[in-house]
Amino acid sequence: MTLRTLDQLGDLGGRRVIVRCDLNVPLADGEITDDGRVRASLQTLNQLLDQGARVVVISHLGRPDGQPVEKYSLRPVAQRLSELLGKSVGFVAQTVGDDATAAVDQLEDGQVTVLENLRFSAAETSKDAGERRAFAEQLAQLGDVFVSDGFGVVHREQASVYELPQLLPSAAGTLISAELEVLERLTEKPERPYAVVLGGSKVSDKLGVIEHLLPRVDSLLIGGGMLFTFLAAQGHPVGKSLLEADQLDRVRGYVAEAQERGVRLVLPTDVVVASAFAADAEHTTVAVDGIESSELGPEALGLDIGPDTAAAFAEIISSSSTVFWNGPMGVFEFDAFATGTRVVAQALTEVDGLAVVGGGDSASAVRSLGFTDDQFGHISTGGGASLEFLEGKTLPGLEVLGW
Ligand code: 3PG
Repeated sequence: MTLRTLDQLGDLGGRRVIVRCDLNVPLADGEITDDGRVRASLQTLNQLLDQGARVVVISHLGRPDGQPVEKYSLRPVAQRLSELLGKSVGFVAQTVGDDATAAVDQLEDGQVTVLENLRFSAAETSKDAGERRAFAEQLAQLGDVFVSDGFGVVHREQASVYELPQLLPSAAGTLISAELEVLERLTEKPERPYAVVLGGSKVSDKLGVIEHLLPRVDSLLIGGGMLFTFLAAQGHPVGKSLLEADQLDRVRGYVAEAQERGVRLVLPTDVVVASAFAADAEHTTVAVDGIESSELGPEALGLDIGPDTAAAFAEIISSSSTVFWNGPMGVFEFDAFATGTRVVAQALTEVDGLAVVGGGDSASAVRSLGFTDDQFGHISTGGGASLEFLEGKTLPGLEVLGW
């Protein structure tokens, strides 16, 4: 089976088209701090609007736990979408119901409206397939055709991702098609050397991908909060750094497997430690065996990879032909701990080959550090989704589109 794509839905002029986007953008005090996902949704929307479709955009934002939470309203996102599309975009403070139905009924050809956050309804993310199906049936009333384009959410078995496409003629939008084209290049015969850089806080989130990638890559570089579990597994005391003690044995297994397979599992040699988790915390750089013996004492916690490590990572990255990176190297939101992430991002821009930044967090990190999208081969809009894709998992939101 192959993915059903937008062009297979024929001429959509005058038809009501529901588009599932992933407009889950970071917000601070009601302001969007990175609109990458909104921009990534424009191509499909413009294509539909140019055809004269009546477009109904649906999305989630954050994790509001099945009830309306003002700070997770899509209203500011609809506003941003309007600015980027250069046309007026309606917004309905309801996902399904009389108001939503009325707003959709009033749409004219080439007009677009955004419905309120799908996750304000508990049924969207319910574990009960019947509940999800009932919600999807309500959503399906609002359209004639469904386009799935929220790549960041295709790994979720949720009503708008998995059940809804089964109720209407459906296909993938251009964002999903473009994401898959790039990510397939990482899974099918990547040009070598192939390096994967993993960061972020939780090693347990990345275990699947580490396991799957070890036999497939030449170098696996570990930074971010999860590096401390690797250091602890090697016997280094890590002070108050993040540590997932229940993963130590598994991590030791990976280190041994990497050795057996001749994969370079590259761990930091130095880290930046701080007296507290704060932007202005006292901090210093230490070798990985010196975390508890620095002048900051045994309570110190690591918040970034050190400069030697960053330089070593950069060297491996920029001399690779294929690179995938997911997860910041340190607490990049605080200037004092952003260097590792900045150096790694810079090295990705220097890759002569394919360099992919995977994920919402990593994408926001590179943009907030002043890099632009066109400096990278590809910035994926999916964090969990791109990792699960690389893990070789079946993604429910793609499976229903014939993938
Ligand atoms: C993401 O940010 O990775 C996607 O929008 C999915 O969000 P979720 O992890 O809350 O399902």
